[in-house]
Formats: sequence, structure tokens, C-alpha cells
Amino acid sequence: MSASIPAQVRIVEVGARDGLQNEAIDIGTAAKIELIDRLSRTGLRNIEATAFVSPKWVPQMADAAEVLAGITQAPGVSYPVLVPNEQGYARALAAGAREVAVFTAASETFNRKNTNAGIDESLQRFTPVLARAKADGVKVRGYVSTVLGCPYQGEVPLADVVRVARSLHVMGCYEISLGDTIGVGTPGKARAMLQAVAAEVPMDALAVHFHDTYGQALANLLACLEEGVGVIDSAVSGTGGCPYAKGASGNVASEDVVYMLDGLGVRTGVDLGALADTGRWLASLLGRETSSRVGKALGSR
Ligand code: HMG
Ligand code: MG
Repeated sequence: MSASIPAQVRIVEVGARDGLQNEAIDIGTAAKIELIDRLSRTGLRNIEATAFVSPKWVPQMADAAEVLAGITQAPGVSYPVLVPNEQGYARALAAGAREVAVFTAASETFNRKNTNAGIDESLQRFTPVLARAKADGVKVRGYVSTVLGCPYQGEVPLADVVRVARSLHVMGCYEISLGDTIGVGTPGKARAMLQAVAAEVPMDALAVHFHDTYGQALANLLACLEEGVGVIDSAVSGTGGCPYAKGASGNVASEDVVYMLDGLGVRTGVDLGALADTGRWLASLLGRETSSRVGKALGSR
């Protein structure tokens, strides 16, 4: 194990939100609640539950309040929810959220397609969200999308990634997740991107978020772990994509990440067997095999 890989990594499970928001089959509110409750029993400490976005834009998340009300919140587990604006924050707070995540992008065009706002306009939208969250004692995470490429613009300058990540950090987001939304990154580029951001934002306030479109996600993660990142976003069963990024495939599967980290001797506190069972159960609801290679292998033993 490389000396610089952290001894412990925190996994932010995003399957119930980033996974399900882009699945053709809607598994229904009761199954979403069961999914989150099952995930709560695997040892995960951060489980993104849903998104209080416009139901016209993302119909799969229209039941956000019901999902949040229906889950059994386990002690010590955080259930962040996505909010795009003050209206989303108000809905989330009314539904009982104690942690929210705001999201913008390093690419102007992607951000317009995703949120009907330019990057600076979206940052302005977050100002009242951060202010209210501070007063309410609600934690705020921040996402930067398209950090390694944009479906509309192509190459994304590193300086743009750094600027947006720094802005979210300065605004008060406790953690910034750097998202390769369309999964085009490769390890050298992922490492260089993380190094550039970490020169401006402390590494312990950074997370990485890979999609596996080109099968590079685990390799990218390893490169970022070697740089010292200690927080990884992933989705059980490798579900998902992004509704405003055509061709973006699923998130890196949580089972695959935990298997790799277990093998590296990195502690996650997550029970791989329970996670893989949940992944295969979710895949069966979606009418297919799990996208996790590890989940598949463990299921056939
Ligand atoms: P807009 O149409 O410009 O909104 O959408 P608006 O302010 O003009 O309002 C229009 C209507 O939407 C109004 O209703 C509002 O009340 C309503 P009407 O009067 O027409 O009946 N509205 C809302 N309703 C519910 N909840 C809200 C809300 N806000 C307004 N929060 C908006 C702007 C940002 C709302 C919209 O573009 C949106 O919801 N976008 C979200 C898209 C999304 O969820 N994308 C996926 C998540 S990002 C992602 O996956 C990437 C990530 O995983 C990291 C990575 O991989 O890179 C995080
Ligand atoms: Mg994503």
C-alpha cells in the first residue's frame, strides 16, 4: 500500500439519488425507502437520500419528501439531499433534512442544461441557501460537475474547476465533491485535477465522484487515493447517470470501491457482503443484473 493512501476512507453512497434519478424504471417510493434502510444497515455513514429539485426536470425525485419521511434514520448516519435553490432548501428543511448538497459545474453549458443557470448565477442562488443553513445548523456539501470533461463543451480548463471548487469552499460548503459527470477521465488527468484543486482547497475538504462510462473509475480513484483524498462518492449496484449528460453511464459501484479498499487495507466500516446483497436486490427491482463486477462475483459464489 502506498504510504500516502489514507488509512480510512469515508464512502458517500449516492445510489438512491444519483443512481435512481436516471433509471428508466421508477422503483417506487416504498422501494426507495427500503433501499435506504438496507444501506443504513451496511455500516455506511453518509447516504444521499433524494433531491428536492423541480419534479418537472427530474420526475424520479418527485417523492423526495415522502422518501425522507419514510426512512428510519440510523444514529450516526447522515442523509444529505440535493437542493438546487432556496425553494429546494425550504422543501428539504420542511421534510426534516439535516444536511443538504448544492450543485454547480465547471462547464457553463452543462450547468445551463442542468439547472437553467450559468455558473455564477448558480453560485448566487446558493448564497441564501448557505446563509439559511448556517442559521438552521444544517450542513452543506457542494458538488462541482464536469471536472474532467463536458458533454457539450468537451475539454474543461482546470482553472475553471479550481475557481468553482474554491468558491463553494469559501461560501461555506464543508466538503466539495469533484464530479467526472460523464466518466471520461483517466488516472493521470484525475490526479492532475485533484492536485490543482487541492492547491487551493484543503484535501480534507475534498471528495471525488466518478462515473464509469469508459471503465476508468477505479483506476481514477486509486490515483486520487494516492494523492490523499479520503472521501469517495459511489452508488450501490453502479446505478445512474445524469439526466442532462447524454451517454453518461452509472456511478462507480460502491461494492467495487469497498472491495478495492478492503484489498488495500483501507478501512471503510462497510460490510461488503451486505452491500453486495443490497446491490443485487436493487438490480432485480430494476429488471437487470447488478452493474457491480464484485456484486456479480459474490452473488455467484
Ligand atoms: P427553472 O425552470 O429555471 O425554475 O428550473 P424556476 O425558478 O424558473 O421555476 C419554474 C418552476 O419550477 C416553478 O413552478 C417553481 O416553483 C418550480 P411553476 O410556477 O412553474 O409551477 N421550482 C421548483 N419546484 C420544486 N423544487 C424546487 C424548485 N425550484 C423551482 N427546488 C431548477 C431551475 C434549478 C429548479 C431546475 O433546473 C432543476 O430542478 N434542476 C435540477 C436538475 C437535476 O436534478 N440534475 C441532476 C442532479 S446534478 C448531478 O446529477 C451531478 C452530480 O451527481 C455530480 C456529478 O456527477 O457531476 C451531483
Ligand atoms: Mg453524479
